[in-house]
Amino acid sequence: MSPATLGKDLVGLEHMSAEQITAILDTAEPFKEVSERPIKKVPALRGKTIVNLFFEASTRTRISFEFAEKRLSADTVNVQAAGSSVSKGETLVDTARNLEAMRIDMVVIRHGSSGAAQFLGQRIRSNVINAGDGKHEHPTQALLDLLTLRDRFGRIAGLKVCIMGDVLHSRVARSNIWGLTKLGAQVAVCGPPTLLPSHVADLGVTVFRRIEDAIQWADAFNVLRLQLERMTAGFIPSLREYNRVFGVTNERLSKAPKDIVILHPGPMNRGVEIDSDVADGPHSVILPQVTNGVAVRMAVLYLLAGGAPDWATAGGDA
Ligand code: CP
Repeated sequence: MSPATLGKDLVGLEHMSAEQITAILDTAEPFKEVSERPIKKVPALRGKTIVNLFFEASTRTRISFEFAEKRLSADTVNVQAAGSSVSKGETLVDTARNLEAMRIDMVVIRHGSSGAAQFLGQRIRSNVINAGDGKHEHPTQALLDLLTLRDRFGRIAGLKVCIMGDVLHSRVARSNIWGLTKLGAQVAVCGPPTLLPSHVADLGVTVFRRIEDAIQWADAFNVLRLQLERMTAGFIPSLREYNRVFGVTNERLSKAPKDIVILHPGPMNRGVEIDSDVADGPHSVILPQVTNGVAVRMAVLYLLAGGAPDWATAGGDA
């Protein structure tokens, strides 16, 4: 097996090598161009059937996967918990096995439980791609973040990236920490102690307690959404207080020694973790992240289906 081969499933970045992650980013490069064509389609996955199983709300990830699948000419079906037999008590495995009985090839799953994607991947023959599982990982989000950083800086190694805010509840943070550190970036986290995991420094990251210190250090901020729906206790005094102490504002960023590139996985709480003039400002790459999401997901689908990492040079741009 080539070091860049992904194996059967994409569950997270924790157990992937730098070579595998780089192969996905490199494969995404030529797929970017497909989305700029008048006819946004290549035949790479013609004949493959992919099911998008979304048991939690999603705009970007679900639609991005669907575009990626359609642009690769796969046949796609979307299943959501509401309206499916999951709402009658059917288990995840029974749902997936029934779908497999209809001869599917891949499942993209978003689920509220950490470990759901791995659990499913171990029980069905189809390739499984994790589109976000509980507080565990969101690998394709981190991959699109890496691609966006690489576009902007020309490299990942040596970059100083600070993950801002609600790290405790964030699968995006975990996948970013794994991906960035494997590719040689320096990673920090910054937020109130209540929103940072107690042993986060064990992951090889620097911890900033004050945003002002992070601003002096960072090349890029990945600003996380405050996940109010996952907060069962009083993690912060109020949204206003959070914005006052940890909000990413132009006033704060104006004190940085260099322009800090701003990422946010979305959806944003404008005026809470990030102010609108930052989100919509000249150093924001929030919409380029979304654009790159389609190319990254095309690359993941293509590689898991057994495609060679050199898609374009292998004549794939037909
Ligand atoms: N970034 C992200 O996962 O967004 P969605 O929840 O809209 O998919």
